[in-house]
Amino acid sequence: MLRRLGTSELFVSSVALGCWPITGLTTLDVTRDASLKTIRSALDSGINFLDTAYAYGIEGESEQMIGEVIAGRRESVIVASKGGLHREGRSQQHDARPETLIRECEESLRRLKTDYLDLYYLHAPDPLVPPAESAGAVAQLIQQGKVRTAGASNLNVRQLQQFHEVCPLTAVQPHYNMLQREIESDIVPWCIQNQIAVCVYWPLMKGLLAGKLSRNHQFQEADGRKKYPMFQGQEWEKNQDFVDDLKRIACESGCDVSQLVIAWTIRQPGITSALCGAKRDWQIRETAGAMSVQLSESALHQIDAALARRGASVSRSAVS
Ligand SMILES: NC(=O)c1ccc[n+]([C@@H]2O[C@H](COP(=O)([O-])OP(=O)(O)OC[C@H]3O[C@@H](n4cnc5c(N)ncnc54)[C@H](OP(=O)(O)O)[C@@H]3O)[C@@H](O)[C@H]2O)c1
Repeated sequence: MLRRLGTSELFVSSVALGCWPITGLTTLDVTRDASLKTIRSALDSGINFLDTAYAYGIEGESEQMIGEVIAGRRESVIVASKGGLHREGRSQQHDARPETLIRECEESLRRLKTDYLDLYYLHAPDPLVPPAESAGAVAQLIQQGKVRTAGASNLNVRQLQQFHEVCPLTAVQPHYNMLQREIESDIVPWCIQNQIAVCVYWPLMKGLLAGKLSRNHQFQEADGRKKYPMFQGQEWEKNQDFVDDLKRIACESGCDVSQLVIAWTIRQPGITSALCGAKRDWQIRETAGAMSVQLSESALHQIDAALARRGASVSRSAVS
């Protein structure tokens, strides 16, 4: 099930592989071999869209592994990367100055062993650099043929507009899932109006909505999820009640919970693709299966009722 990316000539799968967990920086039990297998499995499961970033891995391991897997089949894969955010050890620093974006893009191309990126996002707003300045650098990369289309991630509508005026956007990348839906009131309508693709991250709420974390799961210190409010206290309990509802609906629908959640996500107005992270090959094979799940009217009503029972949930604005 391929969808047009904005008004570009690119067609992407409605489920993409999010290539953050494969670095193992905040995800436990990740090995290089398992990660290479995960990327290969994604491409063998009908996914043609890979989402990575300059900052994924201490030294760009995510891009390096993708480069290894796509060698020999570059033309059939849509590769998206991001710049303007880099790692200093385990922490992240903003730097979206034009010269930095150009240098990082060139480094990403070397790591990916390719001479073009299909989509290049500004990773996040830099408080010291106006979005229009970063946009100028992306426009230059497009003119040089190093990048095919422009994107922006974690920007609000005003910042998106400023970027778009200098370098027309093909895609935006905000966070979005069944329980964190703020973008429906501003970013999504703006993108629909401007024919810009919306590629969403955290569609499984970092694994919570895959339905396999038990209610008494103890998060280890090294697990990046421990710090987020939706994995703590009352929010965790309410989210687990919600997942129990989803399990019943998924069972009636003949699919897994992760497939129910992703099938729902990719049918929401304006949503082009769900960027699904995975640390194992079986996980992405499972979520890729969502592309062939047709949700019945009854399942959709039951999901609405479960959402109403769950009520408003906490969100977040930080970048990971
Ligand atoms: N632009 C940005 O600032 C930004 C920020 C964050 C992410 N992203 C992008 O969006 C992608 C998605 O975000 P994410 O990877 O953080 O979160 P996610 O897709 O919501 O969740 C991924 C996690 O869910 C679990 N999982 C996945 N499939 C599963 C399955 N079938 N069954 C059970 N568990 C499953 C795995 O964790 P466990 O097995 O450990 O439970 C996996 O690491 C990233 O990979 C990245 O490409 C972008």
